[in-house]
Amino acid sequence: MIISIGSDHTGIDHKCLIKNFLKKKGYKIMDFGFNERNGKKVDYPDFIHPTVKYVNDGIAHFGIVICGTGNGAAMIANKYKRIRAALVWNKEITVLARKHNDANVISLPARFIKKSKILEIIKIFFITNFDEGRHRKRIDKIPINS
Ligand code: RB5
Repeated sequence: MIISIGSDHTGIDHKCLIKNFLKKKGYKIMDFGFNERNGKKVDYPDFIHPTVKYVNDGIAHFGIVICGTGNGAAMIANKYKRIRAALVWNKEITVLARKHNDANVISLPARFIKKSKILEIIKIFFITNFDEGRHRKRIDKIPINS
């Protein structure tokens, strides 16, 4: 399975932990940066757009995006037609993002999730399946034409 991942400067450490964890589990990781640990501050859209486009284009199966609040990254991700991005910060929200929303991208708020908690969320995201049933009809109603 191919996972696309990207962050701005706030998410470098979280991204590194996630990448190492997923690589050990056999996932193929495509990292779109940012990776420079030199104090440079970058604009999150420059890294989140390519990360999410990779999922939207069907190359990666899932995406993980990270910024300080998770909001900017989620806003970008949800501009893409085939993306359902969920802002997640704990296990319960993550389970429901998969079960109810069939999220194919998660957005993590680096400034509000302890690094010690991040792998629990990642684990849960990848082992939880979409519930289908009534939720299929609902996610089918999400896209707009305008
Ligand atoms: C960077 O300071 C911060 O604005 C960014 O990481 C993110 O939180 C935006 O939504």
